[in-house]
Amino acid sequence: MSLLRTKTIEQSIADTDEPEYQLKKRLNALDLTVFGIGVIIGAGIFTLTGRAAKAYAGPSIALSFVLAAVCCALAALCYAEFSSTVPVSGSAYTFSYFSIGEIFAWIIGWDLLLELMLGASVVAQGWSTYAKLFLEEIGLGWPDSIGPDSNVNVLAMLLILVLATLATIGIKESLRVNLALVAVKLFVVLFVIIAGLFYIKASNLTPFIPPSVPAKSGDVTITTPLFQALFGFTPSTFGVMGLVSGASLVFFAFIGFDVVATTAEEAKNPQRDLPRGIIGSLAICTVLYVAVCIVITGMVKYSDISGEAALAEAFKSVGRPGFATLISAGAVAGLTTVVLTLMIGAARVVFAMSRDHLVPAKLGKTHPKFGTPYRLTIGIGIVVAIVAGVTPIGKLEEMVNIGTLAAFTLVSIAVPLLRRSRPDIERAFKVPGNPVVPILAALICIYLMLNLSLETWLRFAIWMVLGFVFYGLYGYRKSRAGETERTGESTRA
Ligand code: ALA
Repeated sequence: MSLLRTKTIEQSIADTDEPEYQLKKRLNALDLTVFGIGVIIGAGIFTLTGRAAKAYAGPSIALSFVLAAVCCALAALCYAEFSSTVPVSGSAYTFSYFSIGEIFAWIIGWDLLLELMLGASVVAQGWSTYAKLFLEEIGLGWPDSIGPDSNVNVLAMLLILVLATLATIGIKESLRVNLALVAVKLFVVLFVIIAGLFYIKASNLTPFIPPSVPAKSGDVTITTPLFQALFGFTPSTFGVMGLVSGASLVFFAFIGFDVVATTAEEAKNPQRDLPRGIIGSLAICTVLYVAVCIVITGMVKYSDISGEAALAEAFKSVGRPGFATLISAGAVAGLTTVVLTLMIGAARVVFAMSRDHLVPAKLGKTHPKFGTPYRLTIGIGIVVAIVAGVTPIGKLEEMVNIGTLAAFTLVSIAVPLLRRSRPDIERAFKVPGNPVVPILAALICIYLMLNLSLETWLRFAIWMVLGFVFYGLYGYRKSRAGETERTGESTRA
């Protein structure tokens, strides 16, 4: 039996017709764009901007965002091609199953779980910090003993359980709540940009790329980017290297456009609307992010920027605490949708894996009335709630990034491979400049990964080993494609 066994595209599409594993097709292009913006704008812009500007890039953090956006835009084209060709739930996982083979599909699925479940937990913790701040600002407060800084973060757990319930009841219902919250979030981001313009000081923005500063001892430590450690550069921050490290970190702010592809089976006209949803939401967010960066680093000298709540604190520092309250409210609304969408995406990826029997098939059954994979949604809600509630993962954005970048790399490589192996299938959307553009996308993803710290690589390696053990013990033996390979017949759940 081969680790590179594949499913055919036709089989992937036929699987979506099994009654017990059917999702309702209810989403249009606007729903998908809102879904995209709902998951993209979140902790990345509300908290990471400050941390990355202060530690790595200064005002050039705006350029870090541009670099991360270029990487995402190229990957987005690849995602758009796949999801317009084979509109099946599971996103990158499904794409790689029929283009490069089962073991790669498993690796991508495992990476996506890291992205989506850890991402939801990290953002839920960020949400609880803002929610507590907001509750205090409106005079209600929340007990410290069960808050973000205690051993058990009940606030984050409550959020996740409410959202998991919503996601179980229905995707359209979830998106309705999403729409209202996205409107609040967009309003607040635009507010920051417009109100902030009046407080920009040119002196704060010069030099735009601060001169590179060698790390204190010059020694390689666990936090040194892998690239610098491997190629013997003296570890440094700021300068051009700092700008690139900043991009590897703020890449987190773009995570989510790919989640749009996980809902492919729930779109009414996926061939047309998925590319629009993916590329549209990414473009809107990039423009907003660059504007926010210029405003915030223009308002406050980068060395004085808050590493926790940069946007709110910037307005406090110019004597506008009322604006800061409004921004906290926007962050609470904004981060809620991110957590919701990441959990919906995680359930869709495991759903696709269960249909292929790489995880137990029973887990993926859809609810007869709600049409959602309810067992998975509840199960994922419980795991995310525990991780966010009792583990210190608040600063693991880099870990989420490395999982996502690995998935993007494989998806990009898969585009020219599938063009060659299946030139016959109709592609409603095609990446321009194949194979140069997909290869460039993969190279930029790898370059950004190399700029992540040794610590992150170590954790990622542990995660991957766990994934291979699970695959060896379960997925490899039970896989439906493997069963077909052995018996020559396709099995049913
Ligand atoms: N892009 C999402 C965020 O910034 C994950 O929170």
